[in-house]
Amino acid sequence: MIKYIVAIIIILQLNSFALAHLCLFDPPQREPNWGVPIQPGDNACYRVSSNCGNTTTGAPVKSYSPESTIQVFFQQNYNHWYKPNPGYLDVSLSYDGDNGDYIVLSPTIDDFNAWDMVTQTNYSVSVTLPTQTCKSCVLRVRYISNNAGEPEPDFYQCSDIAIQE
Ligand SMILES: *[C@@H]1O[C@H](CO)[C@@H](O)[C@H](O)[C@H]1NC(C)=O
Ligand SMILES: *[C@@H]1O[C@H](CO)[C@@H](O)[C@H](O)[C@H]1NC(C)=O
Repeated sequence: MIKYIVAIIIILQLNSFALAHLCLFDPPQREPNWGVPIQPGDNACYRVSSNCGNTTTGAPVKSYSPESTIQVFFQQNYNHWYKPNPGYLDVSLSYDGDNGDYIVLSPTIDDFNAWDMVTQTNYSVSVTLPTQTCKSCVLRVRYISNNAGEPEPDFYQCSDIAIQE
């Protein structure tokens, strides 16, 4: 019985440890139901399944011109720097749904040692959209932490956007 209780406590601790890590502010992510002010570990920022954290495609929330340069604004909501194999963040676009081929639009943004895991770091990354238009495309931001100590080391957020004249 005691063993059983200990096991449950360990599982609960793992769950509370493995909290939120990436939030996409602009263009707004799907289901942006975070708290205000946003805290490290907010559930809306914890999406771990590729490519869009098991969210559902919605109507486009923003429309941009082809070839325009836009600012993508997001937050590393929890820092999972892993010294043996540092990770990265990037911004990509799919013309073909959540699980289509992604075109990486941003440079690779190297993860960094924030010293404190709960550090919240905002990024505003400039990316240039392709020429091809779309009524609904998926803009994805991901944080691949490579952290072998994490049960879920990769984090995703998607936004539905349009690219049209
Ligand atoms: C994805 O979401 C659906 C509907 O909410 C749920 O039934 C399913 O278990 C989820 N899958 C994963 C991998 O979380
Ligand atoms: C990061 O962005 C969020 C959302 O706009 C904002 O509330 C927060 O104050 C920003 N943090 C810093 C350090 O600028």
